[in-house]
Amino acid sequence: MKKVGLVGWRGMVGSVLLRRMAQEGDFGKISPHYFSTSAVGQIHIDAQGKSHTLRNAKSIAQLAEMDIVISCQGGDYTKAVYADLRGSGWDGYWIDAASAKRMDSDSVIVLDPVNRVQIDGALDAGIKNFIGGNCSITLSLLGLAGLFRAGLVEWMNVMTYQAASGAGAAHVRELLGQMSQVSSAVGAGLANPATPVLSLLESARRAMDEEAFPITRFGAPLAGSIIPWIDTDLGDGRSREEWKGEVETNKILNLPPGTIAVDGLCVRVGALQSHSAAIALQLKENVPLGELEALVSTAHAWVDFVPNTKADSMQRLSPAAVSGSLKVAVGRLRRLNVGSNLYSVLTTGDQLLWGAAEPLRRMLNILLE
Ligand code: HSE
Repeated sequence: MKKVGLVGWRGMVGSVLLRRMAQEGDFGKISPHYFSTSAVGQIHIDAQGKSHTLRNAKSIAQLAEMDIVISCQGGDYTKAVYADLRGSGWDGYWIDAASAKRMDSDSVIVLDPVNRVQIDGALDAGIKNFIGGNCSITLSLLGLAGLFRAGLVEWMNVMTYQAASGAGAAHVRELLGQMSQVSSAVGAGLANPATPVLSLLESARRAMDEEAFPITRFGAPLAGSIIPWIDTDLGDGRSREEWKGEVETNKILNLPPGTIAVDGLCVRVGALQSHSAAIALQLKENVPLGELEALVSTAHAWVDFVPNTKADSMQRLSPAAVSGSLKVAVGRLRRLNVGSNLYSVLTTGDQLLWGAAEPLRRMLNILLE
């Protein structure tokens, strides 16, 4: 059995990964080794009831004993150990949720329902680094896999509605804390149907302005608001999150940079764990809507194609409808009136599952085939 080193498994994405691995019986196919940066030597009882002594995630020698390392520990960890690990002569497979190695020429971004062919080609070519993509672009590509496979997409403009979980566990807590403070501020007034709504709005606004309103992580209120910037400021008007859209799309599909143009605005909203994107799609040719629907809905098992009606959209096409599941809902597909061969579509999917943990878990299984 392959020795698989698990790093960062206690974090939010790592915990989702372990839960999925347990659900799918992956632990029966590997010899798992749990690494830690803070509790080396302690005993960990895993979900299968087996006892493990935690190994040292900073020890190159211990990591080098592994056939495969899966890291959900973050980019700083990758930067701290990866080069030394390879420098020690280690020839194993590195599977990583962090972006640190994502754009390197010796890495492939993994999203097998979209790029299994590219993954297989990379394995044949001796590539050993398989990196999870940016969650937002991953979910959009997964939803539109059928259109990419058919080579129909010329460009896309992606306007995102990104959940708190994409920013990290502490950010989820902060959003819930913000919601809770607003809720406390309006609680009594809300319970009385005679309270004027303007007074409720004022109470909510006052709570959001208070110094005690928790904004340390996000830097601004998110509950009852939006944050129109994600990741760093590249100084050219774009955020790094927006930059990732085009470079990662083309890398995932193994196309020369810029082959498919992707741009848009990335916005944080008060959703908890599912990212959505409203996409304007420029197709290369005029395709009847029925054909597009067929291409989208039959691309792979996880697409939930939602007919473009109000009732279906409200019931099935939202973070509330898909969170906690592996479904990627795709809907609002229609022609836009502002150009030819231009279509709108909305995708939404769980940022922790297909947006982060699932592509890594499936890459592990590809290596075990
Ligand atoms: N950068 C993403 C976000 C995380 O902030 O939502 C997933 O790649």
